[in-house]
Amino acid sequence: MRPTVAPFPTARLRRTRKSAAIRGLVRENALGVQDLIWPIFVREGDGVEEPVPSMPGVNRLSIDRAVAAAQEATGLGIPAICIFPYTDPSLKTELCEEAWNPDNLSNRAIRAIKAAVPEIAVMTDIALDPYNANGHDGIVRDGEIVNDETVEALVRMALAQAEAGADILGPSDMMDGRIGAMRDALEAAGHRNVCILSYAAKYASCFYGPFRDAVGASGALIGDKNTYQMDPGNSDEALRLIQRDLNEGADMVMIKPGMPYLDICRRVKDSFGVPTYAYQVSGEYAMLQAAARNGWLDGEKAMMESLLGFKRAGCDGILTYFAPAVARFLNAV
Ligand code: PBG
Repeated sequence: MRPTVAPFPTARLRRTRKSAAIRGLVRENALGVQDLIWPIFVREGDGVEEPVPSMPGVNRLSIDRAVAAAQEATGLGIPAICIFPYTDPSLKTELCEEAWNPDNLSNRAIRAIKAAVPEIAVMTDIALDPYNANGHDGIVRDGEIVNDETVEALVRMALAQAEAGADILGPSDMMDGRIGAMRDALEAAGHRNVCILSYAAKYASCFYGPFRDAVGASGALIGDKNTYQMDPGNSDEALRLIQRDLNEGADMVMIKPGMPYLDICRRVKDSFGVPTYAYQVSGEYAMLQAAARNGWLDGEKAMMESLLGFKRAGCDGILTYFAPAVARFLNAV
């Protein structure tokens, strides 16, 4: 639909911008607390909040502190929290067995959060990188990230997380065939109502750098992730990936990173009309925080404007490290 505009002065488009009241009436998009998914980092220990240097304001939390974060999130109206484990290097192996240990850090965190705050939706990450001696999302054999063997490992990981009580599984590994394999295994195990939010269009991005510090994967990673994550030059390929993952049983889909890929968000929403999410990743958070801390940007305004952009681009929700700050801001106005 092409908007029609009467000639000047019949149409003066500034009329609807003349006051805050009228601007509010004509505003097309809004960000609400119900749109937020809060990613948190968990670590071992008790009463620990360990700052992540490249992500100012973000801490690695011991499970008791993660439970407190979930309580805080619920109090603020944030519907979902997403858990990423900082795994002890001694648990990282070539075959990543810790990934499907029912009592690994992530699964203990899921149980503790669901026991204390059952109403919050707990999302997880499915990929082998936190548990992999070489930092990759898949199993490496002779220098190759092998697809099918990795999918078998991811299915075990998915089942362990569903068993622990996860509400939304987030496969972020970009292997082929993993959504279908997970969906079949979940159905067979009776986990009929577990959602899969597929990181379907995940680009090979430098903006994940601070995250890899946060989960302790930077040191381990050998090489790059270009043979499984998407090439930043591609757009049609994102649609094929989304279509494929929907056909295999994904309930919701994600585009990642966010801000440099808003065109993909819009194409996906227009093409499929399915629940669509973007991840405002660690590097996006870090650059906004860095500019704000230098006094180069108004941090609060930049946070709100960057997130409203996702809504305008068609997203139903956003994973963002700003979630509690945004919720406090929205609840105060
Ligand atoms: C791991 C994973 C990554 C992120 C989420 N899950 C990093 C990667 O793929 O290297 C990035 C999140 C962020 O940067 O905030 N599979």
